Amino acid sequence: MFPDELETARLLLKPFEAGDAGAVLDYWQSDPAWERFNASVPANFQLADAEAFVATMCNRDRRSSPGWALVYQDSVVGVVSLVFEQDNRIAVIGYGIHGDLRGQGLCAEAVSAVVDQAFAHFAALQKIRAHTDAKNVPSARVLAKLGFIHEGTLRQNQFVKGRFVDEAIFGLIREDWVKQDRAR
Ligand SMILES: CC(C)(COP(=O)(O)OP(=O)(O)OC[C@H]1O[C@@H](n2cnc3c(N)ncnc32)[C@H](O)[C@@H]1OP(=O)(O)O)[C@@H](O)C(=O)NCCC(=O)NCCS
Repeated sequence: MFPDELETARLLLKPFEAGDAGAVLDYWQSDPAWERFNASVPANFQLADAEAFVATMCNRDRRSSPGWALVYQDSVVGVVSLVFEQDNRIAVIGYGIHGDLRGQGLCAEAVSAVVDQAFAHFAALQKIRAHTDAKNVPSARVLAKLGFIHEGTLRQNQFVKGRFVDEAIFGLIREDWVKQDRAR
């Protein structure tokens, strides 16, 4: 079973709780990139949308789709989530962090911890995939730093908030992660 809590050098990753909605609203409001690039953030979001997001995260089955609130200096500042597919052989990862904390490598730190645990706990897991808006340069940087390979871009592959989005697909294969781990 995947650990409910993970610790990194600077972050605690823990399950969402009902009281986290205010913090979620705060990080959604911290940068327009949240609304632009994150499909789970609705247009013109309100507190009720943050409450609905937190309720969804609390109700997810932690065996098939675990999610973590990122806690930095005692505040919830972001999210990492995984959805397992195909008998736990492939997982899709999502993530984001408060605008005030960008550029410090914090999101990469959180994603790296989840990737480590996912490959360690699920012997069958072979690949972790991420889907980003092709215009989301910081997100692509996070993935590249962790060894994800850009496998292609699907043109106008999503219709999100009234516009078509080119979707960039990134993948990390277990063997590549193990090789990187040995090199560290
Ligand atoms: C994408 C995101 C997770 C990056 O998190 P982060 O903690 O800032 O990541 P890092 O500190 O590792 O920075 C990643 C890179 O992006 C660069 N970067 C950060 N903010 C940037 C910005 N606004 N514009 C351009 N580049 C930026 C950093 O300099 C860094 O580049 P480097 O590795 O060459 O130094 C964060 O911007 C975010 O939460 N965005 C909103 C939600 C989102 O888009 N989630 C991803 C959905 S797929």
